[in-house]
Amino acid sequence: VTAIRELARRYGTPAYVYQLDEAAAAAEALIAQLPQPSSLYFSLKANPHPEVAATLRETGCGAEISSTGELAAALDAGFPAERCLVTGPGKADDETREALQAGVRLFSVESVHQLCQLDRLARATGTWPEVLLRLNFDGAARAGLRMTGRPSQFGFAATELAGVANHLRELRQIRVCGVHTFAATNVADEDALIDVLSASIGAARQVRDALRIELRHVDLGGGFAAPHGRPGKRQLYPALRARLTERLDQELPGWRHGDPAVSFESGRYLTATCGTLVCSLLDVKESCGRTFAVADAGVNHLGGLAATGRVLRSQLRPLMAAELDDDPVDVDLVGPLCTPVDLLSTAMPLSAPRPGSLVELPNVGAYGLTASLVGFLSRPLPVEVCLRGDRVTSSTRLQLRRITSERQGA
Ligand SMILES: Cc1ncc(COP(=O)(O)O)c(C=O)c1O
Repeated sequence: VTAIRELARRYGTPAYVYQLDEAAAAAEALIAQLPQPSSLYFSLKANPHPEVAATLRETGCGAEISSTGELAAALDAGFPAERCLVTGPGKADDETREALQAGVRLFSVESVHQLCQLDRLARATGTWPEVLLRLNFDGAARAGLRMTGRPSQFGFAATELAGVANHLRELRQIRVCGVHTFAATNVADEDALIDVLSASIGAARQVRDALRIELRHVDLGGGFAAPHGRPGKRQLYPALRARLTERLDQELPGWRHGDPAVSFESGRYLTATCGTLVCSLLDVKESCGRTFAVADAGVNHLGGLAATGRVLRSQLRPLMAAELDDDPVDVDLVGPLCTPVDLLSTAMPLSAPRPGSLVELPNVGAYGLTASLVGFLSRPLPVEVCLRGDRVTSSTRLQLRRITSERQGA
């Protein structure tokens, strides 16, 4: 509490505070729960902050990136291009070309268009990238946010793979070296997660047999859960390693010698618990029998994805940063924006809330600032063009730029 008070006094609020040691500890904990040998990609979409990303690089992670902004963040954080994997259902020519020119050679491909695009750009840049086919397979996820086994923008369904095989024969500059799955996110139930990842292993083997592709790399994705905006510790999956090892031995026996190499991906597990958002209350007021605490941070700084219904607001459980004995009052914690959508949390017990009180929102190191709607995936903002009649009077683009005001020794 004292440290938070001191940071708030020194840097002001709202402030995201990241404990780098916790990010490193989370990576070590996750690696220890995964079958070995395997590698782990850090998904920069969860938190592209250069120091957070560099901390995870130091633990041995590669970088899973989905935009030019994330490529720049990964390179800034010191990830070598050959440790980057490009994923995502929407890849612009420019983004793919930049990744190739930067030396990235591994791409997850989600459609025939993306296969042809990568082949064309590889020829144009004189590069020889490798491809993981992203699969949209059945049989996964009873929990979490499911991303497979139903119509979606993600990957190839089993019925589409025969068509893909025909295309592969014509594409000369790219080589399919394996498959990529990412079936669900935030799967807290261990059995459900094991089912999801086991189904991914089975799907990889089936696709290898059906398409007769080389299977040198199987990226099983992830789904490792983490608390968000409420107190809580890192999830533990005590049976995961043994049960996935068994399944890998059955389906892909060469995996123990790297044939295929197995990898996983995680954003939220690696970064959620390292981050806290500290904000100040600007006002506390009664309205028709309810108490509203108005904070200086709102859905523009946290929970942008909540606006799309992805995060349950009622899950946010702020902690009072002040040490006060008073009985807690149930408040609706709102931000300063002029919209009723700017609601962080309902009926949250806060002790003696008053203007100037500090409030901590714990475990928001993943999908915090970066998941504000314009910040997500570090994609460029749209251009704004003004016209008078048919004359363009201006074209401008708002910049989101990280400015380092102070860097201190380790
Ligand atoms: C392909 C892919 N990889 C990794 C992630 C990161 O997920 P999480 O932060 O839940 O680990 C996502 C999230 O949607 C994803 O779509």
